[in-house]
Amino acid sequence: MLPAASVGFVPTMGALHDGHMSLVRAAREQHDTVVLSIFVNPKQFNDGQDFSSYPRDEAQDLALARESGVDVVFMPDSDEMYPAGFATSVSIDAHLTNVLEGAVRGQSHFSGMATVVTKLLVTVQPEAAYFGAKDFQQVVVVRRFVTDLGLPVRIVSCPTAREPDGLAISSRNVRLSAEERRQAAAIPAALTAIVTAVEAGETDTSVLFEAGAAVLHQQGLDIEYLAFVHPETLQTVTKVMTPTVCAIAVRTPSTRLIDNELLQSPASEGNTNVT
Ligand code: PAJ
Repeated sequence: MLPAASVGFVPTMGALHDGHMSLVRAAREQHDTVVLSIFVNPKQFNDGQDFSSYPRDEAQDLALARESGVDVVFMPDSDEMYPAGFATSVSIDAHLTNVLEGAVRGQSHFSGMATVVTKLLVTVQPEAAYFGAKDFQQVVVVRRFVTDLGLPVRIVSCPTAREPDGLAISSRNVRLSAEERRQAAAIPAALTAIVTAVEAGETDTSVLFEAGAAVLHQQGLDIEYLAFVHPETLQTVTKVMTPTVCAIAVRTPSTRLIDNELLQSPASEGNTNVT
């Protein structure tokens, strides 16, 4: 019998950009076959408006997928994923899902995401699935339910792909006006200010919060959250003594943007990087 070909899987909601392609490149290096799914999952949007205005461009997505060496594009429609009578959801404890994105988007965001990702993993049966660290809480939740349900797949977290000015690439960036796009560069700048302060020995997260908030406010950005949390439990951290994730969400008039950075305090040297 021939050995089974190894499949790497990249789940997406389409509107593909270089962030998605960085996941495809990572999968391409490791697997014989790369499968990419495109499905704008209605169950993970708490806001109908955000769902209907979510960017969709099938022709360009297929061209990009082909160019970047994707072997199979799985593009189910809603009836295929959620046929009449569909009555199941994957729900994750509140301590992981009612904080950060869950606090803003509602806990159902993560159960909608977990339900669709579970179904996609069961359908595609990959050896590994690739996710972006940009959505770091998503990675934490996916790792949790994959472990808890005993799904036979390896979850790989890939670094955030960024624009030249540091802004994390996102499908929602196309909604930004020229002015908002300029302001949005303050998000990576705030993270850099926080990283710099940590490297200089600052551990107090209230001081770090002020350093980041000052950069965001200077550009007139509204902070939804600027939080310091444990990278696996998502519990709030008051002193950066072990690896800590700083997660930011801001709202501009046209959209909301998120980003995060892993902080490694000089005091935490020797600890392993958990992302
Ligand atoms: P989507 O927002 O399309 O993102 C698909 C994958 O691309 C996610 O793992 C996301 O973290 C990653 N990604 C997005 N921007 C990135 C960037 N700048 N750098 C690196 N990776 C990036 O996340 C989803 O879709 C959905 O929740 C999904 C997992 C497909 C389930 O519906």
